[in-house]
Amino acid sequence: MRTTFTTSKSAPAKVDAVVVPVAASGAVPSGLGHTRAQLSALGFDGAAGQTLALPGSGSAKATLLVGIGEVKDLTPNSLRNIAASAARAASRFASLSTTLASVGRGSAKANTQAVVEGMALALHRWVDLKNDKGGLPKLTSITFVAATGTAEVKAGMDNGIATASAVCLARDLANTPPSHLTARQLADRAVEVARTSGLKATVYNRDQLIAMGCGGLVGVNAGSVEPPRMVKLEYRPTKASGNIVLVGKGVMYDSGGISLKPSDPSHASMKMDMSGAAAVLATMGALRSLKVKAKVTAYLMCTDNLPSGSALKLGDVLTMRNGKTVEIHNTDAEGRLILADGLSLGAESKPDAMLDIATLTGACMGALGKHMAGILGNNDGVLTQLKAASSRTDELVWELPFHRPYRALLDSNVADMRNIGGPLAGATTAALFLGEFVGETPWAHIDMAGPMDADGDNGWLNRGATAYGTRLLIDFCANFKKPAGKNK
Ligand code: BES
Ligand code: MN
Ligand code: ZN
Repeated sequence: MRTTFTTSKSAPAKVDAVVVPVAASGAVPSGLGHTRAQLSALGFDGAAGQTLALPGSGSAKATLLVGIGEVKDLTPNSLRNIAASAARAASRFASLSTTLASVGRGSAKANTQAVVEGMALALHRWVDLKNDKGGLPKLTSITFVAATGTAEVKAGMDNGIATASAVCLARDLANTPPSHLTARQLADRAVEVARTSGLKATVYNRDQLIAMGCGGLVGVNAGSVEPPRMVKLEYRPTKASGNIVLVGKGVMYDSGGISLKPSDPSHASMKMDMSGAAAVLATMGALRSLKVKAKVTAYLMCTDNLPSGSALKLGDVLTMRNGKTVEIHNTDAEGRLILADGLSLGAESKPDAMLDIATLTGACMGALGKHMAGILGNNDGVLTQLKAASSRTDELVWELPFHRPYRALLDSNVADMRNIGGPLAGATTAALFLGEFVGETPWAHIDMAGPMDADGDNGWLNRGATAYGTRLLIDFCANFKKPAGKNK
C-alpha cells in the first residue's frame, strides 16, 4: 500500500487538496463561499460519490467537493464507496486533508476504517511489470481532520490500514502472472508474511505431502514441472477464545489439465485461481495488528494444473488424506481435490469452525454473477456469522443449497466418489464433494469464482484482481463466536 494516513485535530497548513463532504440536502458548508443553487448549476447536487473540483484557497490547489447523499443513509458501506470516489477524483494531487471520516452515522471508528479502505483500495495499482509507472496516482498522503473523537478516528484508521494493506497484498499476488508466482514462490511470500506478522509458518514439499497422504494436492500437481507446496500458518494469540481453520485454493494457473480448457484469452484470468489462498494469506497477516482473539490456522494448497505426459488422467483414482478414494472424471475440477486434503488436515485438529475459500466453479458464477460469492455449508451458525461479516464488509455472499440428496450425483463405480457431479447444480455438487472431508467440523465453503476479478473501477473495486474474501475473512475471524447449533 503506497498511501499513508494520519489524523489531525485541525486542518493541516499545507495540502494540495481539501476534500469537503457535501450532503444532498440541508446547508452547504459555510466556508465554501458557494450556495447550493450555484453548485447545482455546475451539475453538483451532493449525490453519494459525486465530485466537483473547485479552485483551492490558501496553499491548497483545489477544494474537492464530494457528495455524501442523505446523511441519514450514510453507513460505513456507503462511506467506503464515497471515499473511493473522492480518492479517484483527487488522485492527481499528492496530498489531501478531509473531514470525511467524521460525517457518517454510526461509530467514528467503523466510519474511519471504511474511509481508509475505500481510499486505499481505489488508489491501489499493480505495476510491477510496467516500465512506465507514470500513470500511478500521485496521492500518497491523506490526513483526517477530526476536532473531537480523535482516538476513535485513529483506532479506525489503524484498523483500516491493516485491512487495506491485506487486500493490496492479496490483489498483488492474484494479479501476478503464473511464471512470476509459482507455488514455491507463494510459499516463500507466505514465510515472509509470517515473519513480519507473528505467525508460525510450516512449508510442506512434495515428498512430505506424499508421506502425509495428500493424494489430492500431489495428484493435481502430477502434470507440472513445478512442485506443489502446502503452507500451514498458525496465529496463536495469548488467552485465545475460539479456534478457526481457513483453507485456501492456490491453483497458480488452471489450464484444466488433460481436460484442457479451450483456447480463449479470458483464460489469462486463470492466473487468479490462487485468489482463495491469497485471501487466506492476507487475512492471516492482518490478525495480530487487529488484535484478533481467536486462534486461527490456515492451509494454503498450492500447485498449478497442467497437462503433460505425467499428468493426472481421467479414470485415475486418487487416495486422499482422509483415506477416501476419488475417481477423476474431469481434471479441470481440480480445486476440490486440493482443498479436500487441506480440509481433512484442518478437521483433524477439531476446530470450532472451518472455512474454505476458492475460485471453484463457473456454475456458481453463472448463478450469482460477479458481484457475490456463493456460500454453502453444514452449519447455520457458521453461515450466519459469515453473512454478518458480509454485511459489515460489503463483500457480498448468497447462500446456495447444501442439498444432501445430490450427493448421489457424485457416486462412482470404482471409488468412493467421482470428482464431478454432472451438468446440474455444479456449485452444490462441488460443496458436497468438499463436505466429504470435513468430518463433524462446523464448516462453510465460499465459492468466489464470480467476484475474483472486476472488469472496471467501481467504488472500492479496481479493474483486475479484487482480493475478494480478504476483508470478509478478517471480519469473520475478528468477530468469531463458537457456533452453538448442531450441523445440518
Ligand atoms: N478455476 C475454475 C473455476 C473458475 C471459472 C473460476 C471461471 C473463475 C472463473 C475451476 O477449477 C474449474 O475449472 N471448474 C470447472 C468445474 C467443472 C469441470 C465441474 C467449471 O466450473 O467448469
Ligand atoms: Mn479447473
Ligand atoms: Zn481452478
